[in-house]
Amino acid sequence: MLEVLPKLPADPILGLSAAYREDPNPNKIDLGVGVYKDENGNTPILSSIAKAQKILLAQETSKTYITPQGVQGYINGMLELLLGKGHPAVIEDRVAAVQAPGGCGALRVLSELLKRCNADTTVWVSDPTWANHIPLIGSAGLNIETYPYFDKATANIKFDEMADCLKQVKKGDVVLLHGCCHNPTGADLTKEQWQTVLEIAQQQGFIPFIDVAYQGFGDGLEDDAYGVRLLTTNLPEVIIAASCSKNFGLYRERVGLAVSVTNSSATRQIVQTQIQSIARAIYSMPPSYGGALVDIVLNDPLLKTEWQGEVEDMRVRMQSLRQLLVAKLAEKGATKDFSFVTQQKGMFSYLCISPEQVKAIRAKHSVYFVDSSRVNIAGISLKNVDALATALVDVL
Ligand code: LMR
Repeated sequence: MLEVLPKLPADPILGLSAAYREDPNPNKIDLGVGVYKDENGNTPILSSIAKAQKILLAQETSKTYITPQGVQGYINGMLELLLGKGHPAVIEDRVAAVQAPGGCGALRVLSELLKRCNADTTVWVSDPTWANHIPLIGSAGLNIETYPYFDKATANIKFDEMADCLKQVKKGDVVLLHGCCHNPTGADLTKEQWQTVLEIAQQQGFIPFIDVAYQGFGDGLEDDAYGVRLLTTNLPEVIIAASCSKNFGLYRERVGLAVSVTNSSATRQIVQTQIQSIARAIYSMPPSYGGALVDIVLNDPLLKTEWQGEVEDMRVRMQSLRQLLVAKLAEKGATKDFSFVTQQKGMFSYLCISPEQVKAIRAKHSVYFVDSSRVNIAGISLKNVDALATALVDVL
């Protein structure tokens, strides 16, 4: 039976980690997969999470199943983080949500929800978008179209073209937006641009599908939720996939949230049964551990404050690394102006160099990043920035 299957190429992002591990060069640099790293290249457990683990270990008395929707304190804490305190949709009981295995699990559950609503749904994704969006949404059997987003030539959002395209989107179609820290480009919509997207959504009747995987890494936990809050306050239906991988550093625990903001409490109750049945048919119920930790952190004022400080430290460090890289590139005589890197938000920067240049830097200098020219800013350090800038200048 199995001989019909072809061997598949490595995943464009995860395959880089494998190639990096196999490279014997002691000076190799990993700017591939989106994982936060400290100055020593480690991804430590956040101190707030380490404390929550101790509390959980002391408190947990059973490993019996949790409820199908997940840890309720986690869901409530996350909804407040995403939507803000006292959001009308929460107060009016209009929000259906399930804890999901990672942001990917949430994206898949919500894609299946779209499929159940209308098997012919088209989801519009930004060009470019995160490499795994298309397999995740496409595997649910939905149609995918792209809207213009980023202009490599100017390293800027092509907002006029994006808006013109969204004005053609049909009622009932779905538009996938990155809540903040756009992956892969690091180029985020301004507040005015979010307002325009809202107005077009109101006019066209499309449904926003917002992916929030980096809240707190752009302009801060509150500011990064601007678009999500604007759209969920002013539209009757919005779906959101959130991830705790990055801002809680819980990558391997797979902690996410699938949210459907509905127009009434009655609809909310129906949608809640639907998303639970979707989850049941794929993985039955979410793993408890990571959600239980986030529940502890978000619902303990002291731990929450400590966690907010840790997110802020990661954010500020990544911003200073952007400045450091740009300064180093100028110092090494780069012929290209990379100052746009300091304007980009979050964990990633799109260097706007060609795939050939990306392959050359990998082969010649053992510097690993995605072919699109996306680099993980958190992989830069005081130790490697000089070598990185030299290598980049060499392949320009
Ligand atoms: C990334 O974009 O590098 C991360 O979101 C990790 C992943 O699963 O691709």
